Amino acid sequence: MKKLIMSLLASAMVLSMAACGNTPASNDGSQESASGSTGEGSSFTTVVEGKLTMATNATFPPYEYVEGGNITGIDAEIAAAIAGKLGLELQIDDMQFTAITESIKNGKADIGLAGMTVTPDRQEEVDFTVSYATGIQVVIVTEDSSITSVDDLLAEGANHKVGVQLNTTGDMFTTDDVEGAGKGEVIRYDKGADAVQALKTGKVDCVVIDNEPAKAFVAENEGLKVLETEYAVEDYAAAMSKDNPALYEAVNTALQELIADGTIQGIIDKYIKAE
Ligand code: ARG
Repeated sequence: MKKLIMSLLASAMVLSMAACGNTPASNDGSQESASGSTGEGSSFTTVVEGKLTMATNATFPPYEYVEGGNITGIDAEIAAAIAGKLGLELQIDDMQFTAITESIKNGKADIGLAGMTVTPDRQEEVDFTVSYATGIQVVIVTEDSSITSVDDLLAEGANHKVGVQLNTTGDMFTTDDVEGAGKGEVIRYDKGADAVQALKTGKVDCVVIDNEPAKAFVAENEGLKVLETEYAVEDYAAAMSKDNPALYEAVNTALQELIADGTIQGIIDKYIKAE
């Protein structure tokens, strides 16, 4: 009996939260909400009925990149697995990295999956699911570079030009540690690959970026290497709206189940081969 009351209470809470998420307070008419159900008694709404709309920036192999005209990679497959569990069709929208949190806040996307690091600043804008992967900020240099460690980059009087992808954590860290500390200059690019091209042509002295894309870019470009020392270790998670707790619950639960049953590790192992 107690159990029944508890579960009734729980579903009443979920329902009233779903109703909250659905309030068209600042609705410009474009974000028509629709209901969905996991079939487990929980219901939620998505931006487009029957679809899970994912915002990403497909310039970040092996997490998301374009191959044969399609967006593929770890995040695309994780999102497909989540959508499958929720009975939704996956719709992937490719945009600038900077636009991802905006599109979630503005009700244009349900989920942001983009090798996105959980940071306190971002947590003010969006809610993050459980983490599904670890990322490490590393430094790419040319093979003959005088920069041999993260310390070289942050040394007094180092005065290096650092390339980063705009608004990524690589940008945030070096903006503080290098530029803010008067130890060098940060040059920001729309794509990590553009920063890597700038490194090849000598416009920057190094690139600070996540380890897996770093490895992918170095493999594609001769004369570059990834330094051994790590700049920062981070958690990747999916970003979601703070105004749709029912969908958040459904996605977060689905993701936790996919982690527990090994599906996520299987997807990661498909793209990242052990050294
Ligand atoms: N992990 C870094 C961050 O969250 C970089 C992510 C870049 N992702 C992308 N799809 N371009 O800031």
